[in-house]
Amino acid sequence: MQSIRNVVDDLAAEVLQTDDAGALRQVTKMPEGHAFDMGTAADGRPLFDPRILDTAEFARNPYPYYRILRDHYPVFHDHLHNAYWVTRYDDITECCFDDEAFNTIPKGSSNGVLGNTQLELSGIEHRRRRNLYGQHLVGEALKNRLHSIERIAREMISAWDDIDDEDIVSDRDGIRTVALGRAFANEFPIRVVCEVLGFPAEARGDFYYWYNSMMSGLGSSATHNRGLEARAHLEDYVESIVEARRREPTWLYDADGNAVSKDIITKLCETRVDGDYLSTEEITSNIALIVGGGGETTRGAILNMWYLLLRHPDQFAAVSADDALWDQAFHETLRHSTPIGGQPRHASFDVELHGVQVPAGSLMQMVDFSANHDERIFKAPETFDLFRDDLYSGKLLRSGYRKEGRCSHMAFGVGPHLCPGAWISHQEAVLGSRILLEHMKNPRLHNERMPKDIDGDGLAPIGLVSVRELVVDFDR
Ligand code: HEM
Repeated sequence: MQSIRNVVDDLAAEVLQTDDAGALRQVTKMPEGHAFDMGTAADGRPLFDPRILDTAEFARNPYPYYRILRDHYPVFHDHLHNAYWVTRYDDITECCFDDEAFNTIPKGSSNGVLGNTQLELSGIEHRRRRNLYGQHLVGEALKNRLHSIERIAREMISAWDDIDDEDIVSDRDGIRTVALGRAFANEFPIRVVCEVLGFPAEARGDFYYWYNSMMSGLGSSATHNRGLEARAHLEDYVESIVEARRREPTWLYDADGNAVSKDIITKLCETRVDGDYLSTEEITSNIALIVGGGGETTRGAILNMWYLLLRHPDQFAAVSADDALWDQAFHETLRHSTPIGGQPRHASFDVELHGVQVPAGSLMQMVDFSANHDERIFKAPETFDLFRDDLYSGKLLRSGYRKEGRCSHMAFGVGPHLCPGAWISHQEAVLGSRILLEHMKNPRLHNERMPKDIDGDGLAPIGLVSVRELVVDFDR
């Protein structure tokens, strides 16, 4: 899955070679919520210079710029990056539902690493692929697996006492300091996915290699070849187990040790389409997509949620007093600071949107970041408020439309490609956080070791990229 950030990074690498882009490096740091002045058109509209998209200022403070796009250029033709940016909630919903007119192919340099995945398919072909394993990640199957998510969280947190690296866990004067990313959130979602997929314990070392290399190889960057190598290695591994899984399926178990269902890898190995087994390439691509989709995203959601809560002590106190509020905190985090900025689509035909002619084949960026801050849908969207009355926090709405006068956030996308891992990542974040809170008395940010803003002054806002590390102090 290629995020907008990947696309911007790839293009920025080229654009930064030019003198013009160099001029924009001098954009000054603006107060959060305020846009750099890019000039005014004759009709009074603020101008939008796409070079701003490549600046550090935009990465730390994107929302006022998206507001200009939403208000004045809801479909913005960006000649510099050769893309059309779609920024309003209702427009994105409409486009994502119509996957014939706004297709998901091709998705660029991630293609080689992930392979031919369901992200690129539409219609019945897409539904078939999704149904191969979708039921494992939701409903009863998932409920029966919650115990294993909880077990993994407890195992990881109890291992803190044995970590011999002061940068990750240290104790002084009755206070423990923990780098929550390295001690927990970076690895927790990967371990969960590894288990649900059905990788045996002995493959876990390789699993981290596949995950890290494939994720860092998604852009067309220097690490791309590493990603391709890791994918080839994963494909060899799948080749080596496929026959055995067909003969002897492996199972997932509930808390009482009863077999719940076959694991996802076994299901994929056993699947036949029109009488033929899926090829090793197809099985590997499905695995790669689940591996790629489930790690970094959930890591970002957990760290962003804790960062936002610890920076809003009254809301943190409310969650600490009432466990049930973790669900709302999770959804409000994904609305306020989603780990995935949006999804690329391509126009299948010539279309006109908001008076802008979009030729067939054009790249269109559906900016979830912006949809989640669309003031046509969410009041005071820049405010983190888990008690807001306009965000729907119930069972995820595939439609993204209003229910009971509220709307879902867009962090999981919308329409046919709505994230099938939404429910499991929700459970990971909520269960994991409850268990963290049991262990951390009076947690607070360790400000000195937190990432700083671009001028080194004060804490960094979340912006386009999820919190990299979260250093927390708590009483022992
Ligand atoms: C907070 C965590 C997560 C976020 C924010 C997230 C976000 C997204 C988004 C926005 C899409 C839609 C892409 C598009 O429309 O082009 C998507 C699709 C997908 N996600 Fe997630 N995801 C998360 C967790 C997970 C997890 C835990 C898994 C697997 C266990 C997963 C697996 C997938 C897969 C397989 C797809 C492709 C669906 C399709 O094409 O039908 N995701 N995700």
